[in-house]
Amino acid sequence: MSSRTTVRLIETADAAPIAAHRARDVEAFRRWEPAQPAAFFTPEGQAERIDRLLAAHRAGTVWPGVVLADGEVIGQATVSGILPQPHLRRASLGYWIATTAQNQGHAGRAVGLALKVMADELGLHRVEASTNLDNLASQHVLRRNGFSSYGVAHSSILLDGRWHDSLLWERLLE
Ligand SMILES: CC(C)(COP(=O)(O)OP(=O)(O)OC[C@H]1O[C@@H](n2cnc3c(N)ncnc32)[C@H](O)[C@@H]1OP(=O)(O)O)[C@@H](O)C(=O)NCCC(=O)NCCS
Repeated sequence: MSSRTTVRLIETADAAPIAAHRARDVEAFRRWEPAQPAAFFTPEGQAERIDRLLAAHRAGTVWPGVVLADGEVIGQATVSGILPQPHLRRASLGYWIATTAQNQGHAGRAVGLALKVMADELGLHRVEASTNLDNLASQHVLRRNGFSSYGVAHSSILLDGRWHDSLLWERLLE
């Protein structure tokens, strides 16, 4: 039986498990996630990063979530670039799941839960996401949650030392 997926707002105490996941998965994530400074892979560096995310949350621009499997932190789901103005009401969604918990449906369910937060808590109208053209797992996750791709942004992200195109995704929340 698969474990239960939940999402909640990130806390300072999440720094240690996040640093441990990201340090262990550095090679596996190299293709998909931007390079990070050494501090990113330490509990102290993550605690500082979490403080910054929570400050951005208080300012209303970010909803920084963690993904849990049966209560254990296994990843993050972050709503960023929140534009709450009545004529926009949109944001971007990003996520990662630790290699130890992948291919069990957690990202699919976490994105579904994040969509509920965006619609019900944040009152957003539209959400955007982007994936690497080769990131078929991430594309599956978005498609299964009702996203459609609407274009390609050329040379838009530096991954593993090379600029990559990004596939752009959208979903309306109401
Ligand atoms: C992408 C990622 C979030 C997926 O997390 P996950 O919990 O394993 O995802 P799920 O189990 O919910 O779903 C993965 C789906 O992709 C499919 N999949 C996995 N690897 C695949 C591959 N190489 N080719 C095609 N499909 C693949 C799975 O079969 C599953 O399909 P389903 O929805 O039909 O069951 C995770 O792999 C990850 O964090 N990767 C590294 C960082 C990253 O890519 N972040 C996203 C950047 S846009």
